[in-house]
Amino acid sequence: MKENSSPAAAQVQIHLAERSYPIVIGSQLLGNALTYQHLPPAACALVVSNTTVAPLYATQLTQALKARYAKVVLLTLPDGEVYKDWPTLQLIFDALLQNGCDRKTVLFALGGGVVGDMTGFAAASYMRGVPFVQVPTTLLAQVDSSVGGKTAINHPLGKNMIGAFYQPLLVVCDLDVLATLPPRELSAGLAEIIKYGPIADMAFLDWIETNLDALLAKEPRAMAHAIQRSCEIKAWVVGQDERESGLRAILNFGQTFGHAIESGLGYGEWLHGEGVGCGMVMAAHLSQRLGLVDMPFVERLTRLVRRAGLPVKGPVLSTTDNAGRYLDLMRIDKKSEAGEIRFVLIDGPGKAAVRTAPDALVREVIDACCA
Ligand code: NAD
Ligand code: GLY
Repeated sequence: MKENSSPAAAQVQIHLAERSYPIVIGSQLLGNALTYQHLPPAACALVVSNTTVAPLYATQLTQALKARYAKVVLLTLPDGEVYKDWPTLQLIFDALLQNGCDRKTVLFALGGGVVGDMTGFAAASYMRGVPFVQVPTTLLAQVDSSVGGKTAINHPLGKNMIGAFYQPLLVVCDLDVLATLPPRELSAGLAEIIKYGPIADMAFLDWIETNLDALLAKEPRAMAHAIQRSCEIKAWVVGQDERESGLRAILNFGQTFGHAIESGLGYGEWLHGEGVGCGMVMAAHLSQRLGLVDMPFVERLTRLVRRAGLPVKGPVLSTTDNAGRYLDLMRIDKKSEAGEIRFVLIDGPGKAAVRTAPDALVREVIDACCA
């Protein structure tokens, strides 16, 4: 590698005028000071991580950052979706204030989507906004949550209900961190990769089907391609609709059913990606019942989701009125308007659309898809 050259093997650009930024993808990025050479100068950097990820990767990152920042502080949060809440968010503000961090301080989110979403929200609100960098360490975070600027915490009544759109300065997808990712988390990330096929790129869906075993084996070339293509599709969508006034909603394919499962069972019971995987199958069934896709398409998607190690049957959330419970939970969704649920459906292979559906039809799908 040449001195002062970027160590990244691939780069995807998010085009958002003055909020544009690169996603760098490759090996040996996280602990390399050159990765961070274009960030703005500041007296202090705060690395936010959690009790699982910090022991694995925080030293590499903080050492690299010491070449650029006089003071590098590490904050280690408890691990888990249940901690994506106000009291844990407050710990980030406590650390910033206790360390005298000024408004040029750069926040680094080192972890999965939970750490990324919370750190991004803290960055959006500390002193009305400080710069931040995403260093995603789960596959899900590398292909989805670290990209696009959605930041949030959960409310007991609904997922990601309190948050802001706030773009990072840089996203660092280091393939090496995936080595320690447990199989269940790998599958959760694959759900988000699969998602990009039916909504935007059927050739990518074909590629995933052919290369799924390589992805499950974390084969670096396959992984790098899957991450790059996923980020390219997300960049294309976010570049047109940063604040989800229209098109961006297609990225929520699988989430309406998935969020209901996550909050209905209690955060952390099912992983977010597991909810999305099963939610895509349920949304595909609803699309089929509305005449938008045929049954072979639904079966194809279901096979792929199952092969990726994800659930394809929804859990029973109520023994008295299961479909009613799902419907109640799905109404607490940011896409809902005047209490009417808006689903991301497949409107023919490779194309998604946001539609409403009669409750009776949704009930049929839930009854057929829950075990
Ligand atoms: P997560 O952040 O909980 O991480 C999953 C688990 O893996 C955690 O226990 C974590 O500590 C551990 N982990 C992380 N990296 C590891 C590594 N390299 N090796 C070993 N263990 C590691 O979950 P997630 O799936 O990354 O993210 C899910 C969250 O992301 C949800 O809260 C969801 O709402 C959010 N999300 C946000 C967006 C967005 O656009 N902002 C998109 C999708 C999901
Ligand atoms: N994960 C959905 C979005 O970023 O819009």
